[in-house]
Amino acid sequence: MEKTLVLVKPDGVKRGLLGEIILRLERKGLILERARKLVLPPEMAAEHYQEHRAKSFFPALIAYISSGPVWALVWQGPNAIALARMLIGHKDPLQALPGTVRGDFVCTSTENLVHASDSSAAAEREINLFFGGVFRE
Ligand code: CDP
Ligand code: MG
Repeated sequence: MEKTLVLVKPDGVKRGLLGEIILRLERKGLILERARKLVLPPEMAAEHYQEHRAKSFFPALIAYISSGPVWALVWQGPNAIALARMLIGHKDPLQALPGTVRGDFVCTSTENLVHASDSSAAAEREINLFFGGVFRE
């Protein structure tokens, strides 16, 4: 069993796609364990995206992810980390396959609706950032 953190980003919330995204992960067989709606303070956004600190798109990314409410979701299941990434699709809108969230709903590189942890280390760090001790439960 794995746990992973999925964020429905501000554009996903504004476009009313929370249900669509939950539906896809739930239909796959993953179990929704925790959900929380919040606006990320910029310091928390910078912590969440720490691996991108030196990138040219970092300031725009922090402004975007902090621009409105997100839904933070903890999902659990076998291979939850890789499966959530697969269902979300590639970050490049030209490579995101139809049938994935980004492939079906995204045409830009920054505003791409959804985040999912990319490794078990990232899942632990991100779940702890959004939900305290839930990773170990
Ligand atoms: O979200 P994912 O893990 O698929 O991609 P990432 O490489 O970890 O990038 C994190 C986020 O930064 C992306 O989801 C985009 O919102 C944003 N990004 C961007 O604005 N411009 C890029 N060239 C790459 C990423
Ligand atoms: Mg990433």
